[in-house]
Amino acid sequence: MDNAENGRAGDPMLEKLLGSRKYQDVCPDTIRRVWADCRARYKKPRDAERAARTALHGITGAFLTPEEAARCRRAMARWAADRGDADLEAMLACHASTRERLPLSHTDALFGELFSRAGAPATVLDLACGLNPIYLAARGVRAVGLDISGQAVGIVNGFAETAGVPASARCADLLCAGAIPEERFDAALLLKVLPLLERQRAGSAMAVMVRVSARALVVSFPTRTLGGRDVGMARHYSEWMAVHVPENRAIAFRLEAENELFYVLEERRA
Ligand SMILES: C[S@@+](CC[C@H](N)C(=O)[O-])C[C@H]1O[C@@H](n2cnc3c(N)ncnc32)[C@H](O)[C@@H]1O
Repeated sequence: MDNAENGRAGDPMLEKLLGSRKYQDVCPDTIRRVWADCRARYKKPRDAERAARTALHGITGAFLTPEEAARCRRAMARWAADRGDADLEAMLACHASTRERLPLSHTDALFGELFSRAGAPATVLDLACGLNPIYLAARGVRAVGLDISGQAVGIVNGFAETAGVPASARCADLLCAGAIPEERFDAALLLKVLPLLERQRAGSAMAVMVRVSARALVVSFPTRTLGGRDVGMARHYSEWMAVHVPENRAIAFRLEAENELFYVLEERRA
């Protein structure tokens, strides 16, 4: 951990943020990163604290509330008894992003199409994964998930243990050094997260795409607001993607689904 980049140990405000119940579910690296950014940007400690709390609130948002996490664990206990798709669907409904791909038949059709274009991956790195590794693992894909949400990570690992499937997740902030594994995967997923990363640090979406080691990179963007409105996001993100394809990749496939825009980016041959 780089102290200059991620906040100094012994900084009372950092200690306060790290110890706050409000952020107990958030990856500590994220708290250190946000505090370091804000401290560098604001002269007055009070302004830096206010900015850090606002930023953390925005990042940790409402993708998975404590109530949803509890509901997910209950669905997981039911699923363990009969391994039925109804309980799998109930688990995926607990995170805003996987919920938007339901019903399960729709999720199956989507990933069936994407993975046929990405070359049927046996190993998948799911970056900023939410609960999506649960779906992948339930369908037999070896998934490694990374997220800043301790709840999401705990649920994915609980599922892997319950199901006896080779999936795992760990707390990691994609904007912190060393978060992205060096290991090579068949496919890497960056679903509905690039705009969030850009908001956290300009230029970081490209930096993350470049750093990932995978044959295929699947990225997606939301095309509707959380309230379901169409405000031109598909066009906006199509234009963004057109000028943000990493140099070592090319667009192999584009899919505009009901509320999500997907791209499969393949590696360019040298
Ligand atoms: C919109 S959700 C997408 C979840 C999942 N990719 C999906 O589409 O099902 C965004 C996720 O990114 C995570 N996240 C936000 N900023 C992050 C960061 N800097 N590093 C890692 N994960 C992050 C959030 O905790 C949340 O689970």
